[in-house]
Amino acid sequence: PYPSQVRIIDVGPRDGLQNEKTPVPAEVKIALVHRLQDAGLKEIEVTSYVSPKWVPQMADNHEVMAGIARQAGVRYSVLTPNLKGWEAAAADKPDEIVVFGAASEAFSQKNINCSIAESIERFAPVVQAALAAGVAVRGAMSCTVGCPYEGDIAPERVAYLAGLMKSIGVERVDVADTIGVGTPIKVQRAIEATARHYAMDEISGHFHDTYGQALANTLAALELGVWNFQSSIAGLGGCPYAKGATGNVATEDLVYMLQGMGIDTGIDLDKLVDAGAYISEFLSRKPQSRVAVALLNK
Ligand code: HMG
Ligand code: MG
Repeated sequence: PYPSQVRIIDVGPRDGLQNEKTPVPAEVKIALVHRLQDAGLKEIEVTSYVSPKWVPQMADNHEVMAGIARQAGVRYSVLTPNLKGWEAAAADKPDEIVVFGAASEAFSQKNINCSIAESIERFAPVVQAALAAGVAVRGAMSCTVGCPYEGDIAPERVAYLAGLMKSIGVERVDVADTIGVGTPIKVQRAIEATARHYAMDEISGHFHDTYGQALANTLAALELGVWNFQSSIAGLGGCPYAKGATGNVATEDLVYMLQGMGIDTGIDLDKLVDAGAYISEFLSRKPQSRVAVALLNK
């Protein structure tokens, strides 16, 4: 019943580092991207073009994008919340841009300072411009199971947002559990709601691991036919506007599980663990990945 292959987007350089208090120099971010592509990642979320007052850690977006020695066949994506972000990003030639909305009104306000309806109005011209320039477009959907401000989110709200994303031309979407409160059945409901508007091939799972449920949620998503997932090297991260939320599921843990299930990811786990050790060492902490810790102690 499981897909034979999974494509992983490592969001560590963006989702992972956006919330770090320690300033991470562009050269370290670039080295991390290089290590991820050497490990076999075919999609990397590199940075975001957002207000540096809101997210200071991503202020070096241009420097990071310009410093990457791009590998053929690797897709480099960036976040763009509005036209200003798109214009800055376009100059750096990403392969894909990500507009990011929320299934919860309160989170939309806290994260991007506008309502869901307003966010769609802002995204529409960004999507249009990107597609016209031959750049792919993904839509992140935050708080698809729970919101730090509103609590449980009904699947209807997810379907509503997915429909809006579809209506403005967003090609594929991420079902995000921003604060990692989801459990398998709830996550399946959010995915099924999204599937009213998108094919399973166009849906990816983006599960934060705050409550330790991300791998279980991944398995639940695999059972529905989802085969695109986002994860963060060394389990880095969290959203600055989702207090207490920890990082995405660690890429190392995800790859270990998939390999153990005989599912092809194209990723070299040893190199991946090295990449995680590199950034964790820079941040003076142990990798959050259980698999990385186990392999490093072997
Ligand atoms: P705003 O204040 O409503 O925007 O913020 P504005 O248009 O009124 O502009 C205000 C100031 O921001 C102006 O500067 C603009 O120039 C500047 P000032 O005149 O005050 O000096 N500005 C920008 N600067 C750089 N790049 C831009 C840009 N736009 C305006 N693109 C805005 C709206 C969206 C900009 C703001 O709310 C913002 O930057 N929010 C940050 C959101 C963010 O990055 N959150 C984390 C990523 S989302 C996430 O982590 C969730 C995800 O992982 C999925 C999941 O897990 O749920 C994707
Ligand atoms: Mg996230």
